[in-house]
Amino acid sequence: MSLQHAVVIGGSSGIGLASARLLLEQGFRVTIAARDQAKLKASVDHLSGKVGMIAIDARDPAAVKQAFESLGPFDHLVLALGSGHGAGPFATLDMADLLAGFQTKLIPHAAMAQVALTFLQPEGSITFVSAVSAQSAMPGTAGLAAVNAGIEAMVRVLAAELKPLRVNGVSPGVIDTPWWDFLSAGERQAVFEDFAGRTPVGRIGRPEDVAKAVAFLVSSSFMSGHVLTCDGGIHLAT
Ligand SMILES: NC(=O)c1ccc[n+]([C@@H]2O[C@H](COP(=O)([O-])OP(=O)(O)OC[C@H]3O[C@@H](n4cnc5c(N)ncnc54)[C@H](OP(=O)(O)O)[C@@H]3O)[C@@H](O)[C@H]2O)c1
Repeated sequence: MSLQHAVVIGGSSGIGLASARLLLEQGFRVTIAARDQAKLKASVDHLSGKVGMIAIDARDPAAVKQAFESLGPFDHLVLALGSGHGAGPFATLDMADLLAGFQTKLIPHAAMAQVALTFLQPEGSITFVSAVSAQSAMPGTAGLAAVNAGIEAMVRVLAAELKPLRVNGVSPGVIDTPWWDFLSAGERQAVFEDFAGRTPVGRIGRPEDVAKAVAFLVSSSFMSGHVLTCDGGIHLAT
């Protein structure tokens, strides 16, 4: 049993929640963080009350620093927050929405990693969650690709700069989470079927698929500077 403490930002839903659950099962002490208190509480209950929670907005680093002070030192930071801002065909991509994409994903990821440095144990880790759009050529994802490529570009640099702290990333493909709730149920099913048909493994992903990649990087003391693609092979699709 590990007694190491992992803080999962975005841990109340989807990939973050599944990662929190798996890390808990693997013996980590886990704290989940997100904005919505009620959703956080429901997720803590879902995890049998065995995780801690802090309500934070990753766009407010000063407030997050205070929240981290209440936690004390911790070993691992998982960044599983983000938004769908910046998606859509390039010809009509709203530059304000692209900017919102950077402000709701790249900047909070960087800010949370920076704030956490004071609290992270030197031989702990940071794991970013980017997106496979950063490595693919999927029409309609130029904005998302730019935001997520920025995160992936930071991983290697930070691994070299922050050593011995380990810094890695997981780059998911299409995963069935509430991230897709902006679509109606019918639209969502059609989009998922389309992606499943283009994915070599023949299905879209589940949050638990990505959680395995996150937990591997968190717990593998010889992994640093790596972005692990976890997408069923969809980056190979044309
Ligand atoms: N689902 C996919 O197909 C997919 C594919 C590739 C990459 N990803 C990436 O994977 C990451 C996780 O996505 P998901 O699918 O698990 O989405 P999700 O189910 O919507 O979960 C997002 C989590 O982030 C939290 N969050 C959002 N903004 C926050 C903020 N400013 N401060 C603190 N917490 C915040 C949310 O809680 P609150 O709203 O309560 O704050 C929630 O816990 C995202 O970066 C997403 O871009 C997802």
